[in-house]
Amino acid sequence: MPSARMMNRFLLLHCLILSFMIASANTTSITTDQQALLSLKGHVTDDPANFLARNWNTSSSICNWTGITCDIRTHRVTALNISRLNLTGTIPSELGNLSSLQTLDLSFNRFSGSIPASIFNTSSLLSINFRNNTLFGELPPNFCNRLSNLESLFLKSNMFHGKIPSTLSNCKQLRNISLSLNDFSGTIPKEIGNVTKLIGLYFRGNQLQGEIPEELGNLAELEELWLQNNFLTGTIPSSIFNLSSLSNLDFSVNNLTAINPSPVQPLPPSCASFLNKIIFVLNNEYNILFGELPDENDFDGKIPSTLSRCKHLQTLSLSINDFSGDIPKEIGNSTKLKYLYLDQNRLQGEIPEELENLADLEELWLQKNFLTGTIPSSIFNLSSLSNLDFSVNNLTAINPSPVQPLPPSCASFLNKIIFVLNNEYNILFGELPDENDFDGKIPSTLSRCKHLQTLSLSINDFSGDIPKEIGNSTKLKYLYLDQNRLQGEIPEELENLADLEELWLQKIS
Ligand SMILES: *[C@@H]1O[C@H](CO)[C@@H](O)[C@H](O)[C@H]1NC(C)=O
Ligand SMILES: *[C@@H]1O[C@H](CO)[C@@H](O)[C@H](O)[C@H]1NC(C)=O
Ligand SMILES: *[C@@H]1O[C@H](CO)[C@@H](O)[C@H](O)[C@H]1NC(C)=O
Ligand SMILES: *[C@@H]1O[C@H](CO)[C@@H](O)[C@H](O)[C@H]1NC(C)=O
Ligand SMILES: *[C@@H]1O[C@H](CO)[C@@H](O)[C@H](O)[C@H]1NC(C)=O
Ligand SMILES: *[C@@H]1O[C@H](CO)[C@@H](O)[C@H](O)[C@H]1NC(C)=O
Ligand SMILES: *[C@@H]1O[C@H](CO)[C@@H](O)[C@H](O)[C@H]1NC(C)=O
Ligand SMILES: *[C@@H]1O[C@H](CO)[C@@H](O)[C@H](O)[C@H]1NC(C)=O
Ligand SMILES: *[C@@H]1O[C@H](CO)[C@@H](O)[C@H](O)[C@H]1NC(C)=O
Ligand SMILES: *[C@@H]1O[C@H](CO)[C@@H](O)[C@H](O)[C@H]1NC(C)=O
Ligand SMILES: *[C@@H]1O[C@H](CO)[C@@H](O)[C@H](O)[C@H]1NC(C)=O
Ligand SMILES: *[C@@H]1O[C@H](CO)[C@@H](O)[C@H](O)[C@H]1NC(C)=O
Repeated sequence: MPSARMMNRFLLLHCLILSFMIASANTTSITTDQQALLSLKGHVTDDPANFLARNWNTSSSICNWTGITCDIRTHRVTALNISRLNLTGTIPSELGNLSSLQTLDLSFNRFSGSIPASIFNTSSLLSINFRNNTLFGELPPNFCNRLSNLESLFLKSNMFHGKIPSTLSNCKQLRNISLSLNDFSGTIPKEIGNVTKLIGLYFRGNQLQGEIPEELGNLAELEELWLQNNFLTGTIPSSIFNLSSLSNLDFSVNNLTAINPSPVQPLPPSCASFLNKIIFVLNNEYNILFGELPDENDFDGKIPSTLSRCKHLQTLSLSINDFSGDIPKEIGNSTKLKYLYLDQNRLQGEIPEELENLADLEELWLQKNFLTGTIPSSIFNLSSLSNLDFSVNNLTAINPSPVQPLPPSCASFLNKIIFVLNNEYNILFGELPDENDFDGKIPSTLSRCKHLQTLSLSINDFSGDIPKEIGNSTKLKYLYLDQNRLQGEIPEELENLADLEELWLQKIS
């Protein structure tokens, strides 16, 4: 039996050997890290600021090199950030030898070539950012297999192509993924619904096809979902509207329809909690057709009144679609709305008075619909409004009820009113609400809109004089009064419009 003393000595020796082994392993690893970084330096062919040339040399420890962060204890490289240095070059596979690397940021440079497979082998990585380079190639089919800790992957603005691998679901810790502005094709893999920690999913501007997978509805923490500018078809799964964290959705410029034969969930109450942006803008260029949002009552292309449950909506854009029916008056309940774009649809009926509740509204675009009736004068009470477009509708101002005057507040912000109407559709338009005057004159109170830059009343039925007070809207750049029934002299006060660039008075009588 060895004595206790001998045992102690044996243990001590063992410890010494072990720590020697660790130290030499460390030294080897540190040398490996240095070789990996020198290899990267060697693959940089243009370094206009001489950044690497000045900083990355072996006379100092790599841990002192600019852009490098090391672990204090092990001296292994944990972060490599050479973002925004205008570097040209390629990424060497040796970079995959930085086996403690957590943060890799090469964004906003001119790296080309493909991502070496060894990078996808670096299981310590938490964050990869290759944004804004000219990298190309495909994501390997199993690219997530060893990236089980990865939290962010930014490949935006490169030239990657190929499919989005369904094995993406193995990147279980992923919180943000941006593949936007590349050439990815194929479908959005439904397995993405298993990456349940995702908060930001950005796939805009690719060649993605097929349907939006229902499984996106499993991403309970998702806040932003950008799928615009692809070739997606089918309906928008209503499960998406069940996600209570979603604050920002963009489906614009795709080939989506809402003609959904199966029962669809209503927009849920949860929609009210966060959603601040829905964009369904579609692009005529691609001859795109879009139907209605999911709604418990109504599948015939109306704007669902339940949208009002989205109490935090700031932007609602349903432009250039096929929405029909009335503008639901409940839209007045989304009181955080700043930007409301319903233009270029087939909306009918009157402009709801309830829009007056949208105290933060800055832009209201209703042009190119089939709206009728008068423009509620209460809209002119909205002190934040800066941009109004009612052109090409079937509006009149023949309003039998008393109308509010244009309010003083109009003076604060309004910089654009467009009431251009289009003869093509044989459209008739009357006068603006005015405290004095309901007979089709241009109200002199418009001069209270001191910030007006564009005033277009073209192709209407305005009669009477051009009010001289128009000379008080001294910010005017574009004044279009053409094609009306105006009379009298052109007021001298127009001389005050020092910023005026375009003045159209043709065919005014
Ligand atoms: C090496 O880098 C250090 C800064 O890290 C710099 O002071 C020194 O001038 C560099 N040496 C050479 C030869 O470039
Ligand atoms: C790194 O920089 C620090 C302070 O700038 C210096 O004290 C240290 O000697 C440097 N280490 C090496 C290995 O160059
Ligand atoms: C990399 O450095 C830039 C500044 O040059 C900084 O904006 C960026 O946040 C850094 N990246 C990471 C991942 O820390
Ligand atoms: C990168 O290039 C841009 C424009 O060419 C320049 O404005 C910027 O200062 C450059 N940055 C560096 C770090 O050289
Ligand atoms: C680093 O990686 C390359 C290729 O990925 C490999 O050939 C090389 O042996 C590695 N170097 C070291 C020092 O580990
Ligand atoms: C990735 O790691 C595995 C297992 O360590 C190894 O077999 C493979 O060769 C590595 N691939 C690359 C490209 O480094
Ligand atoms: C990033 O790339 C996009 C297009 O790929 C380009 O429009 C943008 O200007 C780039 N940004 C910078 C800061 O280089
Ligand atoms: C993904 O989640 C589904 C359940 O939604 C499960 O059946 C499937 O096995 C998961 N797949 C992966 C690759 O984790
Ligand atoms: C959009 O869908 C229509 C009808 O399904 C089809 O004819 C058209 O080619 C599609 N356009 C695009 C850009 O996918
Ligand atoms: C919407 O506002 C109206 C008043 O304009 C109110 O009666 C109604 O209860 C509100 N609806 C919701 C869903 O908040
Ligand atoms: C506009 O209204 C007039 C009169 O109500 C009607 O005859 C005409 O068909 C309408 N035009 C459109 C495009 O709705
Ligand atoms: C408009 O300007 C005239 C002078 O041209 C001035 O007398 C008048 O008070 C101004 N009106 C308003 C509403 O600012």
